Amino acid sequence: MTEASLVWHDAAAVADLAEGAVIGRTCAGTAVALYRIDGAYHATADRCTHAEARLSEGEVAEGCIECPLHYGLFEIATGKALGGPVGRDLATYPVRVEGERLLVGLPGG
Ligand code: FES
Repeated sequence: MTEASLVWHDAAAVADLAEGAVIGRTCAGTAVALYRIDGAYHATADRCTHAEARLSEGEVAEGCIECPLHYGLFEIATGKALGGPVGRDLATYPVRVEGERLLVGLPGG
């Protein structure tokens, strides 16, 4: 995915996302989970690759998100499936800050 093929979507206010937190948003029909880890912003798909639970309802710990349904574990920065019943990695999306807003880059059409 090249930068040129991305479409940037307004996803949330910077103030909506506390350190160590995750929030769920829908951007152009795509469910996105937004995270703030050590001051850096990340975004992944907000559907677990195991049985589509909402990861934004899970727990963030040590740079990972734990699925609330069967406790699958993913590395937030890379989307890598790390443990539990999950075998497929999560999609990840770039995030940028513009003023007080967080924008998520999704693949263009
Ligand atoms: S739905 Fe996430 S681990 Fe099963």
